[in-house]
Amino acid sequence: MTEQSSGATERTADQRLRERARAVIPGGMYGHQSAASLPAAYPQFMRGGRGARVWDVDGHEYVDLMCSYGPVVLGHQHPRVEEAVAAQAALGDCQNGPGPVMVDLAELLVRTVRHADWAMFAKNGTDATTMCCTIARAQTGRRKILVAAGAYHGAAPWCTPRPAGTTPQDRANLGYYTYNDLASVRQAAAEAGDDLAAIVVSPFKHNAGYDQELVDPEFARGLRAVCDATGAALILDDVRCGFRLHLGSSWEPVGVDPDLSAWSKAIANGHALAAVLGNEAFRDGARQVFVTGSFWFSAVPMAAAIATITALGQERAIEAMERAGTELREGILAQARSWDLAVNYTGPAVMPYLTFAGDRGHELADVFAAKALGGGVYLHPRHNWFVSAAMTGDDLALVLEATDQAFAEVRKRISQ
Ligand SMILES: Cc1ncc(COP(=O)(O)O)c(C=O)c1O
Repeated sequence: MTEQSSGATERTADQRLRERARAVIPGGMYGHQSAASLPAAYPQFMRGGRGARVWDVDGHEYVDLMCSYGPVVLGHQHPRVEEAVAAQAALGDCQNGPGPVMVDLAELLVRTVRHADWAMFAKNGTDATTMCCTIARAQTGRRKILVAAGAYHGAAPWCTPRPAGTTPQDRANLGYYTYNDLASVRQAAAEAGDDLAAIVVSPFKHNAGYDQELVDPEFARGLRAVCDATGAALILDDVRCGFRLHLGSSWEPVGVDPDLSAWSKAIANGHALAAVLGNEAFRDGARQVFVTGSFWFSAVPMAAAIATITALGQERAIEAMERAGTELREGILAQARSWDLAVNYTGPAVMPYLTFAGDRGHELADVFAAKALGGGVYLHPRHNWFVSAAMTGDDLALVLEATDQAFAEVRKRISQ
C-alpha cells in the first residue's frame, strides 16, 4: 500500500481495479489467472511486458517465469512476431474467409511436426483437445476416451476439474488410467472393449499442484501399441508443452508419434490460436466433423504463428530456453542445498516445478513465491513455471538473487 504524505493510505491501482471488478465480473476474476489463491502480494492486473520482463498495473517490474501460463515462448512483444502481426492487421484479420496465411501455416506445421499430414485451427487449447476427441469418435464410430487421472485437458464440461454446472453424462464416456502405468492403460482399454475411440495423454505428467513426472519411453511405446492393436487414436495433448520442449511434437525425441495432437499456448507467442494436427488415418474423420468459431479463421494470429515457428528455428530458441532452464535448475538446487532445504525440482528444465518436502498445504511454497515476487520475480507456488527464450544473463541473475532471498525466508519460517 502506498503511503501518502498526509499519512493516510492510498489504494493501489490493482486494489481499485479488483474492487471495480468485484461489481461487474463474477468473483472479481475467474479461471487459472485468478490471483485469489495466490499470496496476497500478487497483483491481479498486468500492464504489459517486453522480453522476459512484465509490469503490473502499479508499475512493478518482474522477471517473468510464468510467460502468461505458457503462450509467451520467444519473450513478450517479440519484434519479428509483432511485425508480422502489424503487417497482417493492416490487410485484415476477421474476414469472410481465412487469409492465405491459413494455408501457409498449415503447410509450415505439416513440414515441422513429424506425425502431421494436415492441420485445423481454433482458438484455445480446450477447443483443440475437444476437437481431437470428436475427430477420433467420427473416424472410429466409437465412444470411449481414456484420460490419465488428474490430468488437465481444458475447461469444457468433459474435462473441467471443477464439476459445478456439469452432469455425470458429460463424462459418461471417459475411462481413467494412471500416467506411466501401462497395466492401468491396458485394463481401462479392456473395459472400453470394442468401443475405444482414443487415448489422450500429455507429453509428461504436469498435474498442477503435484511434482511432475517425465514420460517413461516404454509407457509411450506401450500406448502406441494399444492404439495400434485396437484402432483407437493416440491423442497427444501438446497444448502446454508444444514448441517449448521441441520444434516438433514433444514426443518426437521419445520416438513415439500420435495420430492426433492438440496445440495452443506457445504456437503464436501469445496471440490467440489453437491447432489440431493429424495423420492420414484420421483425415476423413476430421473432414466429417462440424467444428468452427467466429474468430477461428482470423488471419492475424496465424501470421503470428508463422513468425513464431520461423523464429523458434532461426533463433535456436528451444536451445536458448534449455540453456536458461538448466542454469536456473542448477542455481536453484545449489541454493536449496546451501539453505539445507529439501526440495523437489521436477519436470523439464524449461517447465520446472518446485515443491518443499512435506509441504502438503503449499504454505512454504507460498512463502517462497511471495518473497520471490517482492524481489522482482513472477513465479507460481502451485503450477509449473515457464522459461522463455528472451531470458538474458541479467534476468537469470536477478531471478537467482530473489530465489536465494526466498529460500532464506523459507528457512526462517521453518526455524520459527
Ligand atoms: C495440457 C493442457 N491441455 C489443455 C489446456 C487448455 O487450454 P486452454 O486454456 O487454452 O483452453 C491446457 C491449459 O492450460 C493445458 O495445459
